[in-house]
Amino acid sequence: MTEQKLNQVKPLSLKINEQHQISLGEIKVAELVKQYGSPVYLLCEQTIRARAQAYTQAFQDNYPNHMVIYASKALNCMAMCKIIEQEGLGLDVVSAGELHTALEARFPTERIIFHGNNKSQDEVKLAINTSVTLVLDNRTELGFIEAQLAQDPSKSCKVLVRVTPGIECHTHEYIKTGKIDSKFGFNIEELDEIITRLKNNKQITIRGLHAHIGSQIFETVPHKDTCKVLLQLYKEIKDKHGLEFEDINVGGGLGIMYTNQDDPPEIEDWVKIIAGSIKSNCKELGLKEPRVLTEPGRSIVGPAGITAYKVGNIKDIPNVRKYIAVDGGMADNARPIMYQAEYLAEIDGKDPNKDTELVTVAGKYCESGDVLIRDIKLAKAAQDDILVVYSTGAYNYSMASNYNRATKPALVLVNNGQSHIMVQAEDIDDLLRNDKMPVHLK
Ligand SMILES: Cc1ncc(COP(=O)(O)O)c(C=O)c1O
Repeated sequence: MTEQKLNQVKPLSLKINEQHQISLGEIKVAELVKQYGSPVYLLCEQTIRARAQAYTQAFQDNYPNHMVIYASKALNCMAMCKIIEQEGLGLDVVSAGELHTALEARFPTERIIFHGNNKSQDEVKLAINTSVTLVLDNRTELGFIEAQLAQDPSKSCKVLVRVTPGIECHTHEYIKTGKIDSKFGFNIEELDEIITRLKNNKQITIRGLHAHIGSQIFETVPHKDTCKVLLQLYKEIKDKHGLEFEDINVGGGLGIMYTNQDDPPEIEDWVKIIAGSIKSNCKELGLKEPRVLTEPGRSIVGPAGITAYKVGNIKDIPNVRKYIAVDGGMADNARPIMYQAEYLAEIDGKDPNKDTELVTVAGKYCESGDVLIRDIKLAKAAQDDILVVYSTGAYNYSMASNYNRATKPALVLVNNGQSHIMVQAEDIDDLLRNDKMPVHLK
């Protein structure tokens, strides 16, 4: 494990030389932009691996019976699945598309779990046929599972049952998922009936319960409480149904630094809290200690990524605001417009402490709200300068769109002086690939 501090905005291999030129994995960002175009998503392989290892090492030291499951919604592509597989983690997928990507990357299916609050019949069938574990979310899905299994008595299915534990956390409203008022999972009151129904189906194995309480969380108490709520349910289920589950899944959600105001716990400290809470609650309730599953996404890949843009138009409205527009925006990073997310950035090759000005970094898309960073102090920018935005590894590429028929940028992995395309940039013809011209319009 690296000696370097993991909780930081910049990736581990990011360096800035005396001329303020930024490099990643020993390659200058300016060269990467020359090679791959701009905008471009750049990922530091060293950081992804170090953060994955920080989780596994912390569990090894504090609770060896575990599986860290990378939540691939944060960033999913075949190369990412491969890195996660090599690091020995599991994989959380939420759609047939994410599962297909994982299968194509030959990710071991026994380490895959399949989430989703509205899985289709086809998705349930695919999960059963590929033997991945389903995170059972609702009655409709349960009906699909039962129907699938009834067609073939030789088939079986492993499930984790998702519950809403009613725990609030201080994060943005849109990414809170553990509240009672949530589209995800069963209410605790429904659980008894669901467990009875599952137990009566001999083709189904209940691995345990699951809860995910939100994302970008800095406090540790909500997760500690989640363990407690879940284990109290384990105790009730043991007493009533005689079942002792093998697994407990406490979700993901550990926050990362986007700006200097953010102060998330270290991965190791978060793991210690979870491990401690599981151990003490099991002891108190007389339960055997289950295998602990966690689902971090953002905290593995978020700090590994940076996005490089080129500065275009600069609009100075005297006494109001100075906009510097870049060649990307909400189509490659939807988080600012969706969640008012904040980012740090720097101009490549310019001293960030000299000749600075307060500016707003605007995107190029047709929405006034397409602003990447509001009110940031940057070195005075000029046209064609490269702007590097930090902490863009999670929920940037994976939420990218073709809004305004934008082409998605390349996703490039960088390490030790080498760069590799993980997903190539779309070109203008990719946009037309699925267009058809109806005969009567020809
Ligand atoms: C069920 C579930 N697990 C894990 C995650 C990953 O969360 P994060 O990326 O914040 O760790 C999410 C994200 O919202 C989620 O919905």
